[in-house]
Amino acid sequence: MCGIIGYIGKKEAQPILIKGLERLEYRGYDSLGICLQKNNKLHILKKKGRVEDFKRLPLLANIQGNLGIGHTRWATHGVPSQLNAHPHTDCHQNIAIVHNGIIENYQLLKNVLIKEGHKIVSQTDSEIIVHLIEKFYHGDLEEAVLKTVNLLEGTFGLAIMHKDKNNIIAVRRGSPLAIGIGRGEMFLASDVSAMLEHTRQVVYLKDNQMAVIRRNSFQIKNLDGQKAEKEIKMIKWNLDQIEKSGYKHFMEKEIFEQPETIKDLLRGKIKNNTIKLSLNIEPERIKRIIITACGTSWHAALVGKYFIEHFARIPVVVDYASEFRYRNPIINEGDLVVGISQSGETADTLEAIREAKKKGAATLGIINVVGSTISQAVDSGIFIHAGPEIGVASTKAFTAQLTSLLLFALYLAQGNNLKIEKALILELKQLPNQIKESLANHKEIKALAKQFYKSKGFFFLARGVNTPIALEGALKLKEISYIPAEGYPAGEMKHGPIALIDKDFPTLFLAPRSATLNKIISNMQEIKARKGETIIVTNDPKRLKRLSHSVVEVPLTSEWISPIINTMPVQLLAYYIADLKGCNIDKPRNLAKSVTVE
Ligand code: M6R
Repeated sequence: MCGIIGYIGKKEAQPILIKGLERLEYRGYDSLGICLQKNNKLHILKKKGRVEDFKRLPLLANIQGNLGIGHTRWATHGVPSQLNAHPHTDCHQNIAIVHNGIIENYQLLKNVLIKEGHKIVSQTDSEIIVHLIEKFYHGDLEEAVLKTVNLLEGTFGLAIMHKDKNNIIAVRRGSPLAIGIGRGEMFLASDVSAMLEHTRQVVYLKDNQMAVIRRNSFQIKNLDGQKAEKEIKMIKWNLDQIEKSGYKHFMEKEIFEQPETIKDLLRGKIKNNTIKLSLNIEPERIKRIIITACGTSWHAALVGKYFIEHFARIPVVVDYASEFRYRNPIINEGDLVVGISQSGETADTLEAIREAKKKGAATLGIINVVGSTISQAVDSGIFIHAGPEIGVASTKAFTAQLTSLLLFALYLAQGNNLKIEKALILELKQLPNQIKESLANHKEIKALAKQFYKSKGFFFLARGVNTPIALEGALKLKEISYIPAEGYPAGEMKHGPIALIDKDFPTLFLAPRSATLNKIISNMQEIKARKGETIIVTNDPKRLKRLSHSVVEVPLTSEWISPIINTMPVQLLAYYIADLKGCNIDKPRNLAKSVTVE
């Protein structure tokens, strides 16, 4: 996820671009850059870091013009650095582009371009786009762009400018772009928040559309060459709201982003019913896997144990990263140590990985932030591509971790010639839709939050592969609403925790169809017998309705997909309860987004 901004008009473009980038920073904030056109020359400035530092660069005084593009980056290919920052230019600095998205076939195209003599200087997938435009450019920029995008596989929102042209070309496939209409000036941005202080009239580009934007006009056409309609929309939101795209909190926004993040994550990873991960490991040589992580990522690790042991039949140990290195862990030949971290900066997880390496283990990271310290410390990595997660409570990164672990387990199974059911692969492809369906229950869950937000405590219970989701539900609730909450395997209740049950201490059950559904029904009866209130999240509502007034139906999936689906109601419940209690949801007390101390 990156942010794009563009301006063409009579004003000095630089302050408009920089302010726009400031507003887009939530989309990515590892590096940024701008390109302005003046006297038939492109003037570019790029830097690693945040807009705040960029604004202080003395060189900015030299970057002027009335036409320009800018970009704030969330690294996917190549570490955050000045060289990898956008805009990227062709070999002769005649054309500049900024890109949001992922080009899946970039390596192939890069090889061809290098053979043809193009000088590619960054590690990004994006830079090849501008070299392709250069290759096809013979005076007609539009034509060159069209020929280029026809070769690209993946997603893109693109803004393109040429030193001699009085226009900006924008193209969209998968990554958002909107044109802002001003008086004698036009804007372009990934998110309308970046141009809201200049105009409220916008046109959202649709997928597979291209726009040629001039100072006083713009044309939109489809990539097949057909002219497209311009649908002008009036934006009614105020600046404060739109920064969260109309959501009240970043956490809420990130919960509802999950169908998209999972769609992005799955793209290109399933081909011909086979899992495609480019990993530097040999599955047949792995004898044992140790997964280490903290907090929510540790819960993902627990689910990963179920996935890997079931599908790949490789034994898995899950360890708190904060404990791992201090207990002189035993590492044997054939051990793979996996570190899971959203931020890639958690000190405990980083030190656990370093300890494992010291002891000779092969290491793998499952990480969101490209270029982070853990991503650089591991031998091999899976990037979950969930985009920037701003809310301190991890939500979309968690489901992206779960999905990555399921893909990893199936990849290991494949490598060990174990059979994978085709039906499961089909279900995985349907996962973004199933998540969407699960989120559609939000009104019902909001009503439950109203009913239960004054509770003195909460239990979250489940069995099997859903047990870690019960733990995660409890963590979400306690970290943002400050209500004491515990997650347990349902069968453990009777060994002590049940003593806490009374009418003000409700229990949420995750009860999908599975071999242990009858057992969990008995556990529900045990709670009811002690006057405890229950909320049941299930894909078998007919069977469970008689047991509770509060049944939340989720889509029916295989048991192996159910932990991802069941995460939606527990995240939503925590969110709505915290909101009713008036808590500071995005920045809960005492917590930080990435914990870089031990
Ligand atoms: O960035 P990481 O995944 O390494 O962070 C680990 C934990 O600090 C993190 O998951 C924390 O528990 C969150 N606040 C949970 O919402």
